[in-house]
Amino acid sequence: MSTSTDAGGRSMSTFAELHGRTPEGEWAAPGRVNLIGEHTDYNLGFVLPIALPQTVRVQAARRTDGLLRLWSAQGGGPVTELRVAELAPGAVPGWAGYPAGVVWALRDAGHPVGGADIRLDSDVPGGAGLSSSAALECAVAAAYDDLYRLGLPAPELALLAQRAENAFVGVPCGIMDQMASMCCRPGAALFLDSRDLATRHVPFDLAGAGLALLVLDTRVKHDLGDGAYAALRAGCEKAAALLGLPALRSLDAAGLPAALAQLPDDLRPLVRHVVTENARVEAAVAALDAGDLAALGPVLTAGHASLRDDYRVSCPETDLAVEAALAAGAHGARMTGGGFGGSVIALVDATAADRVVAAVTAAFRAAGHAEPRTLTAVPAEGARRLA
Ligand code: GLA
Repeated sequence: MSTSTDAGGRSMSTFAELHGRTPEGEWAAPGRVNLIGEHTDYNLGFVLPIALPQTVRVQAARRTDGLLRLWSAQGGGPVTELRVAELAPGAVPGWAGYPAGVVWALRDAGHPVGGADIRLDSDVPGGAGLSSSAALECAVAAAYDDLYRLGLPAPELALLAQRAENAFVGVPCGIMDQMASMCCRPGAALFLDSRDLATRHVPFDLAGAGLALLVLDTRVKHDLGDGAYAALRAGCEKAAALLGLPALRSLDAAGLPAALAQLPDDLRPLVRHVVTENARVEAAVAALDAGDLAALGPVLTAGHASLRDDYRVSCPETDLAVEAALAAGAHGARMTGGGFGGSVIALVDATAADRVVAAVTAAFRAAGHAEPRTLTAVPAEGARRLA
């Protein structure tokens, strides 16, 4: 096998070099940013993500000998070879656990799938809160669905991808990221009800409104993230149980004061965040439906305050990016994704985008933080076959 590197030093082995044949096809699945609706999905509430133009791409071909051969341009290293029949939760460390988990989840659900040769490449920034893992899972799920002619609906593939992450990799995430990666459409945000997976594609024409959505990756990933996410999720489930509810989704703003009065001090802010955040998703959808995209701004900023003060998943870097963006004239800004670092989104006039980026960069430099990496988010297409 020969290996070359691109300008960034990235390993660029081709499918033919890796697997000695040509792929049967190529598929892509995107990362996402969530506009609003954070930590609501596992409470069976509302979310409003868009897909990013950045994708994970999978070239794949079936194998008849039950082997799963995986290679990733970002993972580096040689081909990882696994036996599909021996896949078991927790047994595959590192990046390979995500694609292997999808194959395991498909088989565990009774779908007749075997091995494959796979080459993965991605331009979704990893560790930035932009769902590079869900993109990886969904790209492999879309490839397997086609290759093994399963014909599964996109929401079912999203659930299988989530199961791979929950049960095989061991991360207790909700369903938002996988649904966004599978189901989003260009030019629209995905209004998702996590209780029944009902979706509505809400037009989100940023350019038409003279706006831009900046993604400011703080390049911070705090290690407490994974354990803290599980603890927050457990706190919400405990609160729902104490209130005698199937999930916090069942509580609305009118019932909030009475519910808070029944709960111990430590659970109250969590419940307040979830209930007010669901209402913010509905307010955001109303703004989009009315074509008043700038009205989304204050909703985003209120969402950040709630994540910072009630849910406590922001960090100094995300707070600083939000403050600096707002001070430079953003209509609204908030951290996006699970928190403890990751990315901030800022809704800005298109003409002010450069100024806001410069202001946030200057604020980071003054505070001694590494410079944030910036993307401009354009609502893009969900998982699809490329070739
Ligand atoms: C992560 C999880 C999602 C969701 C968000 C927070 O991205 O994967 O399921 O819970 O955090 O909204």
